[in-house]
Amino acid sequence: MSDTHDADMKQWGFETKAIHGSGGPDPQTGAVSQPIFQTSTFAFRSAEAGAGIFAGEEEGYVYTRIGNPTVRALEKTVTLLEGGEEGIAFASGMAATSAVILALCDAGQNLVLCEPVYGGTHSLAEAVLPRLGIEARMVDALDLEVVRDSIDENTSLIWIETPANPTLKIVDIAAIAEIAAERGVPMAVDNTFATPYYQRPLELGASIVIHSCTKYISGHGDVVAGIVVCDNETGEKIRHESLTDLGGCLGPMDAFLLIRGLKTLPVRMEQHSRNGALIADWLASHPKIERVDYPGREDHPQHEIAARQMSGYGGMVTFYIKGGRADGAKFLNNLKICTLAVSLGDADTLIEHPASMTHSTYSAEELVKFGITENLIRISVGLEHMDDIVADLEQALAAI
Ligand SMILES: Cc1ncc(COP(=O)(O)O)c(C=O)c1O
Repeated sequence: MSDTHDADMKQWGFETKAIHGSGGPDPQTGAVSQPIFQTSTFAFRSAEAGAGIFAGEEEGYVYTRIGNPTVRALEKTVTLLEGGEEGIAFASGMAATSAVILALCDAGQNLVLCEPVYGGTHSLAEAVLPRLGIEARMVDALDLEVVRDSIDENTSLIWIETPANPTLKIVDIAAIAEIAAERGVPMAVDNTFATPYYQRPLELGASIVIHSCTKYISGHGDVVAGIVVCDNETGEKIRHESLTDLGGCLGPMDAFLLIRGLKTLPVRMEQHSRNGALIADWLASHPKIERVDYPGREDHPQHEIAARQMSGYGGMVTFYIKGGRADGAKFLNNLKICTLAVSLGDADTLIEHPASMTHSTYSAEELVKFGITENLIRISVGLEHMDDIVADLEQALAAI
């Protein structure tokens, strides 16, 4: 997959890239909307051409597990938005995550994982990787010395997630990237919460970016998908090992939905941010709320880092309700507009209890250690009218 963006496209504004990043109307038909190449296989012009494509001597599509024009259009757009060289789309965010780790870590090596991370990533690190002989070292990335000390000659990857799910802890991407560069270790950033609209880790020194596209990139809660963006060489290895050999490819229809979602990413993110900031402030002033974490608020413990590396803060808000788990459950059970569901980044406001849901893979000790307390609630503030979200939260809080 050697098609690259021309220099002009790289100069475009983010909004233009999000709309035209896949390369414009279909050259064959003039279709303005991305055609959905709903095909598993591709006919070769001749036996020689087929052999040439297999040998890597000719460009061309072979089989959708390895590459598909609709999926390629998505990969090109996200690569352009993140400022990378190559993008590889996957069937889920976890497929993208596992693809990066398995491509870069061998048995006997270790992965430095900055806590907290999404429960699925944590479970992969703690339950699956040790069986393959890969050690995951969970560290607190706020302490740069701890990160530095945890790297040894067998470290093959540093992984950070910022803002982190579910505590919204912010990790200093440039500072960790500097340590990674000093030690010659690649660094991956899970950029799902911020999206490339608000944060571009590659520009800050990261080597790899991954997304659960299921979230803001889709924006509509109708797709499960993931993507990796990196340099050409790493991308080639990931594509070959993870798509060709492991097979977690994205389907063309899902790629089409994501291309459509991307066109409105900037306007959606602006509105998510407006609503998110207002809800965070409203919750912070509510007598039944103990604490609110929102990277855009000055009282967020890492607000200064967030302001440096993000250009906006999105719709994710974490808050700690006064009282125990039963009060939290009563609050959640009384909501009418805010939907009690995992996932995030949708037009619909989604709300959940991480300790018993998305992060239930953590042990009781780990939950305490990483601040995922029983009274922590995560809300993905959607695009509904602010007054309606507030009224819904207000009436549900009144019930406890
Ligand atoms: C930050 C983050 N990364 C990765 C994932 C995994 O993505 P998916 O559910 O698309 O596999 C999630 C899912 O919630 C997530 O929140």
